[in-house]
Amino acid sequence: MSFVTNICDRFSITTPLYYVNDVPHVGSAYTTIAADVVSRFHRMQGIPVLFVTGTDEHGQKIQRTAESLKRSPQEHCDVVVAEFERLWQVLGIQFDRFIRTTNPRHEAIVKEFFQRLWDQEDIYVGQQTGWYCVSCEEFKEERDLIDKRYCPIHTNKAVEWRDEQNYFFRLSKYQAQLEQLYASQPDFIQPEIRRNEVLGFVSQGLKDFSISRVNVSWGIPLPMAPEQTIYVWFDALLGYISALLEPEALPTLENATAHWYPFNLHLIGKDILRFHAISFPAMLMSAGLPMPQRVFVHGYLTKDGQKMGKSLGNVIDPFDLTERFGADAVRYYFLKEIEFGRDGDFSEQRFIHIVNADLANDLGNLLNRTLKMAHKYFGDTLPSVSAAGQVTSPLQELGQSLGEQVASAYQRLAFSEACEAILTLVRLGNKFLDEQAPWKLYKQEETRPQVLDILYTVLESVRLAAYLLSPITPQLSTVVYQQLGFSVNFGDQSLIHVSAPYSTHSCWGILPKNQTLGEPVPVFQRLEALEPSAP
Ligand code: MSP
Repeated sequence: MSFVTNICDRFSITTPLYYVNDVPHVGSAYTTIAADVVSRFHRMQGIPVLFVTGTDEHGQKIQRTAESLKRSPQEHCDVVVAEFERLWQVLGIQFDRFIRTTNPRHEAIVKEFFQRLWDQEDIYVGQQTGWYCVSCEEFKEERDLIDKRYCPIHTNKAVEWRDEQNYFFRLSKYQAQLEQLYASQPDFIQPEIRRNEVLGFVSQGLKDFSISRVNVSWGIPLPMAPEQTIYVWFDALLGYISALLEPEALPTLENATAHWYPFNLHLIGKDILRFHAISFPAMLMSAGLPMPQRVFVHGYLTKDGQKMGKSLGNVIDPFDLTERFGADAVRYYFLKEIEFGRDGDFSEQRFIHIVNADLANDLGNLLNRTLKMAHKYFGDTLPSVSAAGQVTSPLQELGQSLGEQVASAYQRLAFSEACEAILTLVRLGNKFLDEQAPWKLYKQEETRPQVLDILYTVLESVRLAAYLLSPITPQLSTVVYQQLGFSVNFGDQSLIHVSAPYSTHSCWGILPKNQTLGEPVPVFQRLEALEPSAP
């Protein structure tokens, strides 16, 4: 059986469906920003995109959180979901579908899927004993526990003993098929380190896992045993499929998988790798559904080198960060500073430094001073004919290959590499301007004709940089484009492939020679650290 499907003519992508036990944290923002950037990059190329995000609302963790807050579970979920929606709004996240696992249409999909596995005789009744981490919603091996009681991820939460009759999924049956999947689709799990982790785990032999719970009422009842509910992870992973239902379509698996399925890319953090790279593909195999194309695993964020946690009092609030510094700054920092796929750190000092250096100084100032000179020497409109002919510049040389280089980086989710390549052009632009010193050339009659080409070359570099950065910094790129006399709005994603398609705007020489330029106004305000609060 081949798992490879031709799905290059459209692009479907997911973030994890976030737990609603608490307001969104910076980890959720991180994955969602990355997914938004990849979606924007594909839309610019004219590729139809479906970007799915959403919330994972069932299970013991949510049930207990709601109880502790004296809310009904549904009421609690509604409150937290509103916060997720607000965060995506302030961060400029342009998703296409937001799936909530409490949606009744999702329940219909889960039940149909469950039935398919049942019909395959892949579900059976067994006794589940073991240590359960409610925060992970996952059984843990005793040998992995810290001090025999604590989950290695939630080191302040004791695991709980479970001994109950559950329904099990025959994961072990899919061992060979999974190994064949990893061999025939070598890019299925990325980066390599995560792929190796999965291969190592699977090679130890897969065990069946329980997919129902006895004492959890906040969940989807089992079709054949309504006193039990479906295990939250089994339920949540299927949320990706439910999200694909068109609004008017009947909630059936056939309808859900008709157009956008299978997914091109699932973006996840490293703690939920096994669910996505082992359990989910096996469930899909059992249901007779094709495999996703790629699961990309990012690392964990720390704060000032420390693990983040409520008890440590060092969690980064993504609302606070965005309100103080703006969405572009937040989006840029996380993607530029941290190699996607590796762990990374947030330090406010470094954040302010990087964003100011790259966006306010290198890019913003370059545009501002060049634009001021253009206005001073030529008025609002650039002359259409250059008397001096083309200045062959290192900028043009780099600019001609940059679009391809950056596209390849976005394709590989090497966001940091994309930013570095773009910033290389910007820094070269500053160096070029300083070396050429057009303000001196303008003073001499015989050198004055060179000025136009120099300014044009620098402005074109800024345009190209802003265009290639636009998936990451859409607001900044829009302002740069507008000052350069274009009426492109990178916020309008439904039109971007028409108003500024990648095939042309990622190339060198798009700024028209007789362009009417906008007023030079600083495009990016320098960030300032908060004053230390008074004692
Ligand atoms: N509900 C499940 C996912 C179900 S998908 C069908 C879940 N939710 S979560 O809200 O706890 O986590 C969502 C994502 O946030 C995970 O990918 C996780 O790796 C990520 N992060 C949680 N803390 C993080 C950091 N400190 N840093 C980076 N990402 C982190 O798991």
